[in-house]
Amino acid sequence: MCGIVGYVGFRNADEVAISALRRLEYRGYDSWGVAIAKDGEIVVKKNVGAIGDIKDFSLGGGKIGLGHTRWATHGKPSEINAHPHLDCKGRIAVVHNGIISNFRSLRERLENEGHTFRSETDTEVIPHLIESWVERGEDFADAVMKTAEELQGSYAFVAMKADDARLVAVRYKSPLVLGVGDGEFFLASDIPAMLEYTNRVVYLDDGESVIVSKDGYRILKNGVEVEKGIEIVPWSIEDAEKGGYEHFMLKEIHENPRVVEDTLLEYLGEDIEIDSRIFAGISDILFVACGTSFHACLIGKYLIEELAGIPVRVEYASEFNYSNPPLSRTLVVGITQSGETADTLEAMRKAKKLGMRVLAITNVLGSTATRLADHVIYTRAGPEIGVAATKTFIAQLTVLYLIAAKISNLPPKEIEELLNELRSIPQKIRQILDMEDEISSISETFAGYENMMYVGRGIGYPIALEGALKLKEISYIHAEGYPAGELKHGPFALLGEKTPVVACIVRDKTYDSMLGNIKEIKARESPVIAVANEEDDEIEKFVDYTIRVPSTNPILTPLTYSVALQLFAYYVARLRGCEIDKPRNLAKSVTVE
Ligand code: F6R
Repeated sequence: MCGIVGYVGFRNADEVAISALRRLEYRGYDSWGVAIAKDGEIVVKKNVGAIGDIKDFSLGGGKIGLGHTRWATHGKPSEINAHPHLDCKGRIAVVHNGIISNFRSLRERLENEGHTFRSETDTEVIPHLIESWVERGEDFADAVMKTAEELQGSYAFVAMKADDARLVAVRYKSPLVLGVGDGEFFLASDIPAMLEYTNRVVYLDDGESVIVSKDGYRILKNGVEVEKGIEIVPWSIEDAEKGGYEHFMLKEIHENPRVVEDTLLEYLGEDIEIDSRIFAGISDILFVACGTSFHACLIGKYLIEELAGIPVRVEYASEFNYSNPPLSRTLVVGITQSGETADTLEAMRKAKKLGMRVLAITNVLGSTATRLADHVIYTRAGPEIGVAATKTFIAQLTVLYLIAAKISNLPPKEIEELLNELRSIPQKIRQILDMEDEISSISETFAGYENMMYVGRGIGYPIALEGALKLKEISYIHAEGYPAGELKHGPFALLGEKTPVVACIVRDKTYDSMLGNIKEIKARESPVIAVANEEDDEIEKFVDYTIRVPSTNPILTPLTYSVALQLFAYYVARLRGCEIDKPRNLAKSVTVE
């Protein structure tokens, strides 16, 4: 996720910007840039890679400036694509976090009007739009407001003009905070950026803009000034990096609703904006992936077979590399949040060598997977810091729903209903996050066990697999995911009062059989937690604990149940005192076979 900063005051803005950007490094970034205004000129410095320990960074020390850490979303990581972006004349600079979903049409219009673009980014339309308003005689701040009215998507951006002593910033669905000092003001996407200088902040809300000079600030909404209180941040810088959450994993679980929203914003307009040529003429699909991404593939198989009737195989990437797959018009899909997992890359290389078309679904722009693949679909989760995949998994699922809907052969009305339900998922996930205390209190009963079983049927089975993986990797409890129907073929021998079972029970054609399995499990004295639909009145009679999840179309339950199970795993691990963000022996990106 990009980090933005702005400064106006009495210090050297270049020094403040670079130190503020260092405080945002934890958010993850691939390139960065700083701009200052001095003597009526804008001076910019951009770089690919880490800020590192550059000593004595200086652009000449103006007292107003901007900074940005970029997590590439539109256009590869490069100096040209790094922010700040400028207008034609280099007089207006902008840093932005978010996605401008209508940037293509805006860019086309501006190019027709004679604007020359330098980058591939969505952001660059903003300085050009501001420029076009200024050229029509608008005051700089008014030009920024008028520009914001033309933007669709999500954004927090800060604009600066070479000969103006003000910063102007607007927020809509991306975070933006104003820091209030004595004779100096800060703007940033996150509090740690400014905490070294001030702990007095004003949180901006959606649709609000702020005009800041060294003498003060004005906050506006729909052109009308609004009064907002200053809040005191009680956190240390370290606390603030995690947004006040104890761990990155918990913060990232809480980002799940936004991640679904951003991914839908990117690909779901009036139509599903995924290139249909990716799927043209294919006979079948083969998914290759590892770990959590492999579980996303299993859910993808279910969705695509159910909605599109196309045969799907799923292979662990590491095993695919030993197989001799039959050659056909197969689309091979590598799912990898990092885009760098060695086994997945090797499987994709093999598929290419065999002449198959390869699609990468990844969260990292410009990663190796994107360079190997014929086609790429990006998830919009932003960087994930916790080693355990949470929000990137939910983003992968969101993309898979869109793909399945895109290639579906079901009647359009049914697909429209499903997409509408998908649009309501962020709100349902928020309801699950509101149940955090309840889930945390259930986890207290289970933190002392050393073995657990997760079971499900149909789409509930991969949910169980992923739930078990989350628990084992962060709590070190031995946890197995199993198809509920397989229990009696071996795992029954493990059941008993020392082996609790998490039953992922979905209100679909598998429901009655799952209920039967739960009764069998109870008969063997295993404590049972059910993850169930909130309208399921029956289940409580048969289990010890129920995590009730807001109702949705059963096919969408992976998006809701998985979030509940992420929270459950988190709280169990926390009670066991585990190092949640960096579990032992694990790495975030597994770049060796
Ligand atoms: C589990 C986890 C891993 C990854 C796996 C693949 O929480 O994070 O299992 O899912 O290492 O990583 P990517 O998706 O980067 O290929």
